Amino acid sequence: MKGHFVSFEGIDGSGKSTQARRLCDYIKKKLKRDCVMVREPGGTPEGEKIREILLDKNSKLTPESELFLFLASRSILTSRIVIPALKQGNFVIADRYSDSSLAYQGYGRGIDLEIVKNGNRIATYGIRPEIVFYIDIPVEVAMKRKNYSDRMEKEDFLKRVREGYLKLAEKYGYFKIDGTKSTEEIWKMVKAAVDDLIGGEEI
Ligand SMILES: Nc1ncnc2c1ncn2[C@@H]1O[C@H](COP(=O)(O)OP(=O)(O)OP(=O)(O)O)[C@@H](O)[C@H]1O
Ligand SMILES: [Mg+2]
Repeated sequence: MKGHFVSFEGIDGSGKSTQARRLCDYIKKKLKRDCVMVREPGGTPEGEKIREILLDKNSKLTPESELFLFLASRSILTSRIVIPALKQGNFVIADRYSDSSLAYQGYGRGIDLEIVKNGNRIATYGIRPEIVFYIDIPVEVAMKRKNYSDRMEKEDFLKRVREGYLKLAEKYGYFKIDGTKSTEEIWKMVKAAVDDLIGGEEI
């Protein structure tokens, strides 16, 4: 049985975790296959510590140090969890992966995209998701789903990130989904794409 790797991308509140969880349930229950769900930053004990630093409001990070922390977490996650799981023929679902760095640290924080790409190459050991599900949602809609203390700053930042994602989606052929649709409608599209990906394999 062949291993598979897909990721979910999109701005905060776009519905990534909702769909990633649903897909994992589907893989396990309906397809009777093991599903490995990983989240970024985090997914390993060391990665979870890095996550704490990244999410701590008192952390005074530079855009570059933020990039390096994400890459450090990704490198550990990829080598210890993702690659071994794929070798065992498991289905791996990433709730954010390398494309998040291009959108957030590249477009959002203004780091040269070539630098981010090179960092990703090191941190991922060259592996790429077979499908990048990009859930596109206007920033205003996403902001309504979440509570932020620093709304104005967050809104400007997320607008840059979304614009970035839209450009990346064109360039890299993400599976783009309208995130304002219902969770059910979105799920149907995700399911169809995954059925297509594994179609014909022995389950
Ligand atoms: N299609 C949808 N329509 C309306 N609400 C949704 C939809 N999908 C998810 N939600 C709701 O929006 C909120 C954010 O969803 P979710 O946590 O899946 O997003 P996320 O992309 O993982 O966010 P984060 O980047 O912050 O982890 C949740 O309250 C969820 O129930
Ligand atoms: Mg989430």
